[in-house]
Amino acid sequence: NKCSAQLKLCLILAFCLRSMLVTSQEVNGQRVEMDDGKSGYVGSKVDLRCRFINSNPPVKISQVTWQKLANGSKQNVAIANPSLGVSVAPPYRDRVTFKNAAVRRRTPTLEDTTIVFSSLRLSDEATYICEYTTFPAGNRENTVNLTVYVRPTTQMSLSTPTLVARSSNLKTPVATCISANGKPPGTIRNRWETRVPGEVTTREYINSDGTFTVQSDYILVPSRETHRETLTCVTTYNEEVYTDSVTLDIQYEPNVMIDGFDGNWYLNRENVQLSCQADANPVVSLYQWRLVNNSIPSNVEIRDNVLLFKGPITYEVQGTYVCDATNSIGTSSAFVEVSVL
Ligand SMILES: *[C@@H]1O[C@H](CO)[C@@H](O)[C@H](O)[C@H]1NC(C)=O
Ligand SMILES: *[C@@H]1O[C@H](CO)[C@@H](O)[C@H](O)[C@H]1NC(C)=O
Ligand SMILES: *[C@@H]1O[C@H](CO)[C@@H](O)[C@H](O)[C@H]1NC(C)=O
Repeated sequence: NKCSAQLKLCLILAFCLRSMLVTSQEVNGQRVEMDDGKSGYVGSKVDLRCRFINSNPPVKISQVTWQKLANGSKQNVAIANPSLGVSVAPPYRDRVTFKNAAVRRRTPTLEDTTIVFSSLRLSDEATYICEYTTFPAGNRENTVNLTVYVRPTTQMSLSTPTLVARSSNLKTPVATCISANGKPPGTIRNRWETRVPGEVTTREYINSDGTFTVQSDYILVPSRETHRETLTCVTTYNEEVYTDSVTLDIQYEPNVMIDGFDGNWYLNRENVQLSCQADANPVVSLYQWRLVNNSIPSNVEIRDNVLLFKGPITYEVQGTYVCDATNSIGTSSAFVEVSVL
């Protein structure tokens, strides 16, 4: 058993070694070693590693060429030549250097021709080829994919400044969370945290500069119950987390009830009143009192939302009292049947 375990390990190692050699483009002991992939944020500094691994018999390096592979065509980025020196192509002159000082010297050693981008741009995202021209062995090359990241800017807002609770009970987007101009796609996620049940629609679209924007809407039926509820959008981008919140401001017509009648209004009782209570957004601008099929008795005084029954009550005050409360959204009513014992 011990033997077979060792054999297995050996096979695995052999397999790994073989795949390493294949990706490093090894031919006759010489290979060009690069990272599997590289990424960096816009504006950041990033090294693209390239090392020539030589073995016996040693070969002479005639030239090293860095190229960008974009849209299927190759574009020179930088060249290091033992007798002619170093040349960086004009589009990269300000931003690309060879990391190893020895490459830049008069008698260079070109084993390590790692280049450094001092300030990454979106357009730098590409496959880069590091090619060693050697004598007498010929060309050895390898590639690395450079991915450029951009942090999205996140913004949370109410979908419309005013939301109104309607009796139609239609679902509508109430809040929008936008994570704009980020890269790469699939790394930006918007998640909602709230007590209010609703639906989320999310769409991701590509911008002209190649960045991505993720827009997420929270959809619900605006109602009195959802007024002043908080919605939080949690955006994750790679390992980073941003949160932003909005509070719903939903306008609704008054929700009315009448306080004050306790069912024990006996003849000649004094100091009784009815009070109209309304929950409304915006606040109630008008209270109106009515007595169904009758006019309000003269000993009853109307003070806005309160009806004051002055003096000892009589059977004449009996009836159905209605309070109509109005705000800019609408009018609603409540009633109470007053009977005198
Ligand atoms: C690749 O092609 C696109 C559109 O065809 C162009 O905008 C972009 O600049 C090209 N990239 C390079 C490096 O030439
Ligand atoms: C590098 O990019 C090319 C082109 O987009 C792709 O075909 C290739 O699979 C990538 N290689 C790796 C190792 O990700
Ligand atoms: C008010 O009057 C109408 C018609 O006269 C009648 O049908 C209705 O029942 C009355 N309502 C009350 C609360 O007395």
